[in-house]
Formats: sequence, structure tokens, C-alpha cells
Amino acid sequence: MRLRIRPANQFGGAISVPGDKSISHRMLLLSALADGTSSLQGWLPAADCEATLRCVRVLGVQVERPARDHLIVHGGGLRGLQPPSEPLDCGGSGTTMRLLMGILAGFPFPSVLIGNPQLSRRPMERVAQPLRQMGAEVFTTEGHAPVRVRGGFLHGIRYELPMASAQVKSAILLAGLYADCPTTVIEPAPSRDHTERLLQAMGATIRKEGNSITIEPVEQLHPLSLTIPGDPSSAAFLIAAALLIPGAHVQIPGVLLNPTRLGWLEAWQAMGASIQAIPEDEVGGERVGLLNASAAARLQAIEIAGAIVPRMIDEFPIFAVVATQAEGVTRVRDAAELRVKESDRIAALATELRRMGARIEEYADGFAIHGPTSLRGALVHSHGDHRLAMALTVAGLIAQGETVIEDADCIRDSFPGFVETMQALGAEIEPTP
Ligand code: S3P
Repeated sequence: MRLRIRPANQFGGAISVPGDKSISHRMLLLSALADGTSSLQGWLPAADCEATLRCVRVLGVQVERPARDHLIVHGGGLRGLQPPSEPLDCGGSGTTMRLLMGILAGFPFPSVLIGNPQLSRRPMERVAQPLRQMGAEVFTTEGHAPVRVRGGFLHGIRYELPMASAQVKSAILLAGLYADCPTTVIEPAPSRDHTERLLQAMGATIRKEGNSITIEPVEQLHPLSLTIPGDPSSAAFLIAAALLIPGAHVQIPGVLLNPTRLGWLEAWQAMGASIQAIPEDEVGGERVGLLNASAAARLQAIEIAGAIVPRMIDEFPIFAVVATQAEGVTRVRDAAELRVKESDRIAALATELRRMGARIEEYADGFAIHGPTSLRGALVHSHGDHRLAMALTVAGLIAQGETVIEDADCIRDSFPGFVETMQALGAEIEPTP
């Protein structure tokens, strides 16, 4: 699919976004291990989460689906997964593969995890190494998928993560559920902490001291029924459009307001944007609330480095688009992880935004953008990366002339209904084959 985008002269309204992707994966996996039935409303029916659902079913878990975004999971207990009769196909989802590796390290049967070519380029030794230290047999294919895991008796370890990665942290904590003594993970900087919060809500004992997290082995997890809050990483695209289109305003209720996910919001506020986050509720140990944003009169460039980077790791594509409209040089450092996402996001952003007239320099661990620049419509490519496709869509809305994004089907990896949501807010976007 291609997307044809025309410049927007009006944009705004109140609209919600689909459920959080990270929590949808985790809730499904943890409910599968719980003792009893969990009901997950607002579950994200995106391609990445569908991969987790497929794998959980291959592992013998009964899941009913009364609606596309409602799952009823009949957990079989911590030891209840069945040996898979086929390879576990994680599609393009890194979270599925890495979190499942951690869980399967606790089971004595062999499993094979496979992914599509894009996922098979991403690093898996970062998870395999600590799991081996815990006592699991883990084989990667030269560092990548396919991955073979055979677990069993695990020992608790103390592990210093070489990079801030919530997926690696979560895999180790999940394996820690099955270990013979507590497991401690030390992060270089805090990454998203949904695994810790949900495990705690389901009865596990987790201790946090500074950047170190310790999990105690448990006998059982309690089932949990909840409505998964809206994904702030999806909301970021709508907020960016509201900031950049003159006269725009959006209101997004029911969004996850976990601080480990809102670095981008703080960065844009520091650049002069008018965005409010108003807490309303708490669900499964997570804060939920309303996001409000209006067009910014003037944005100032900013320097991004250090601990804020993992708290906005998925938002750099849309952050870069916003930076093209800020006055001065916006610099991002300490973000080498962007090179091992769904695409090499530093190289892909530089290539595609340059086609639209942006002035962007690449660093090994980040980029610099000189602004403001008037973007021009162009033929651009998503690199098969959902967040790049959506960021380029927003760029197209503020560009002069028409923008065409090639290979935009990948948007369904995280935000089904993105095009319809943008259209409902006033954007002229036409999907074409
Ligand atoms: C995720 C963690 C992040 C993020 C990804 C989702 C998660 O990856 O980029 O989109 O749900 O744990 P890393 O752990 O590799 O940083």
C-alpha cells in the first residue's frame, strides 16, 4: 500500500488511540502464565501483538476473542505451557521474541523461535547471554533468529545490562520467575517498566533500588482483568500533527501516562510546545489520563542525550519531524539503539527527511537537524518501519505539495486505524494499492 498525503489546512478534534503495544504483549504473556482467567479489554489488534497471540496459542494456551480488541485468556499456571508442535513465529515483533525467550528459559522442552527477514536482522545475543548465565540452553543463528531455547533449572543472577533495553530486562525478569533464588537486573538508565508493574499487580515480589530491579521466584501469578490504556507512542503522532499544523488542537483521552514512556512529551514541552497530560485513573499499577495539545507558535531546538533517550526511544522518527520546524540545531546523542530497531532509524530518517528538504546530519549514535526548514512533498519510503511511515505522514501534512509514502502497510504493526484516525481529524490521506 502507498499513502498519498496532501498538506493539511485544518486538523483537530477529540479522539482515542488503540491500546498500548508493550502492555498488550505483556498482559497476554503474563495472563497465559497466571492461575485462572484474565479479561483484556482494549488489547491492541496490531500485527506485532497478533504474533504474540499466535505463539501463546501454539504453546497450548486457550484464548477466546469476543471482539478484535478483547481477549479472554485461560492461564494454565506458571508451569502450564505445552511443548510447541511447530516453530513459534514472532513475525516482525522483537518484543514477542525476546520476552518469549525469557519465559521459555523456564521450561524443560525445546522451542524454536523464528521471525520475518526484518526481525531476523535484529540482535538476539543480548537476551541469549544472560539466559545462558542463568542455566538455559540458548542457540542463536550467528546472533540472530532462528533461536532455539531449552530451559529447565535456572539460577538467579545479578546482571548489568550493557544497554537500556526493556525487552532484555523483561526477558531476564521473566526467567527470574523460574529461578532458584532472586534475580537482579541493573539498567544503565530506566527503560519502560511495565513488566515490573504488571508482575507486581499479579502478586510477584519486585524490589527497586535506584536502577536495580530484583525479582523473587514465585509459585503462582494471579489473573488480572483490565482495560489496556491508549498507547502514548501512537498518540505522539497525533500530538506532533497538532503542534505543527496552524490552528490545530487535539484531545486524546485514556492514554497511558507512565513516565518511562513520556520523554518525547517532556522534550516537546521544553521546546515550547503546549501539551498537557492530565492524570485521570490508575489501571494495573499504571497511570492513565488525557493528553491535550495545540499548535505551537514557535519551537526552539533542544539537545537530547543520556537518561531521557530510553524514555523516548520509539519516538525519535516523529521527534525528528518536529525538530525540522524548530529554530536552531536539535542534536540527539546516546541513541545508537536506533540503529537496531525495525530499520536503522538514524540512516532511514536521514535519507527520507532529506528527500523532503530537511537538513539532517547523521552521527553513529544520533543525528542533528538544522531548523526551521519548509518541507516539500516527495516520494519517500517507509523502510518497512511503521514508526517511520507514520512520521513521514505527519511530515507530508506540513509539506508543500503532495507526499507519497511507499510500503506503508507496516503501519498495522503498531497502529491499526492510523489512516482513519488522521482522516477523522481532518487530514487528507488516500491509501492506494
Ligand atoms: C519495547 C522496548 C523497546 C521499544 C520497543 C518495545 C518493549 O525496545 O523500542 O518498541 O515493549 O519492551 P528495546 O527494549 O530493544 O529498547
